[in-house]
Amino acid sequence: MRRIFPTPATVDDAALVAAYEYPVGGRWLRANMVASLDGAAQGSDGRSGTLASPGDKHVFQLLRAMADVILVGAGTARTERYGPALPWPDHAARRKALRQSPTPPIAVVSGRLALDPGGPLFSGVGEPTIVLTTERAPAVRRARIAAVADVLVLGEHQVDLASAVTALAGRGLTRMLCEGGPLLLGKLVAEGLVDELCLTFAPVLRGGSASRVLNGPPVPDVAMHLVHILEEDGNLITRWIRSSRMD
Ligand SMILES: NC(=O)c1ccc[n+]([C@@H]2O[C@H](COP(=O)([O-])OP(=O)(O)OC[C@H]3O[C@@H](n4cnc5c(N)ncnc54)[C@H](OP(=O)(O)O)[C@@H]3O)[C@@H](O)[C@H]2O)c1
Repeated sequence: MRRIFPTPATVDDAALVAAYEYPVGGRWLRANMVASLDGAAQGSDGRSGTLASPGDKHVFQLLRAMADVILVGAGTARTERYGPALPWPDHAARRKALRQSPTPPIAVVSGRLALDPGGPLFSGVGEPTIVLTTERAPAVRRARIAAVADVLVLGEHQVDLASAVTALAGRGLTRMLCEGGPLLLGKLVAEGLVDELCLTFAPVLRGGSASRVLNGPPVPDVAMHLVHILEEDGNLITRWIRSSRMD
């Protein structure tokens, strides 16, 4: 993998970690997404994995290995069949030095709680999954999920995402990584909660009606500052910080 902006260089894993270091102090919400050149967030099978190259998958895992918590919408957890994050031996010492758990918990945002309590997310492997839900979530489903996960109720009809981010930070989970999907990311951006977007452009055109990286109602223009562009096999792996967070 090579860096083509700001200064051209070959990047190894140590350089990648340095390039994605979280700011020190305070909470920080990073989002990581992949899109086709024409902006599709779903590959031909309706999932994102088919857009991801080995280089993008490597950075995807590295960003997970650097995070305190992985935030994801229930739609993505269902479609992508989420399970717990698994440990990365290469990052174990760094995580320990930063007083991070061996793996970050997955935090799923869901109103309907149409999640399988017997599924891999709730298998007991790794850090317990956190489920962020609402007072209106079906009581029976909530009781079943509460038996196997850490359930936080934040909001009546919709999860109050600002409260969700504050609650995660209050548990010391300040280095946050959101892996989408587009609906959740659109809402987080609309509420001004996203500090950073890591976006890979896969060298492919999709057309059709696939979702974009952000979905839902339009958001006021959010100016972003380009931090770097990496390249591998024609994939452009970019990092952007919200301009208002640059000082
Ligand atoms: N290209 C990429 O990098 C990328 C990344 C991730 C996903 N994807 C793709 O995107 C698609 C899924 O994305 P999506 O936009 O449909 O789903 P999503 O954003 O992952 O999840 C949407 C769901 O999250 C829950 N949710 C979100 N905000 C909420 C709130 N404030 N309160 C309560 N619940 C809330 C709801 O779950 P309930 O329905 O349970 O109430 C909602 O239906 C898949 O095709 C996936 O492969 C692509």
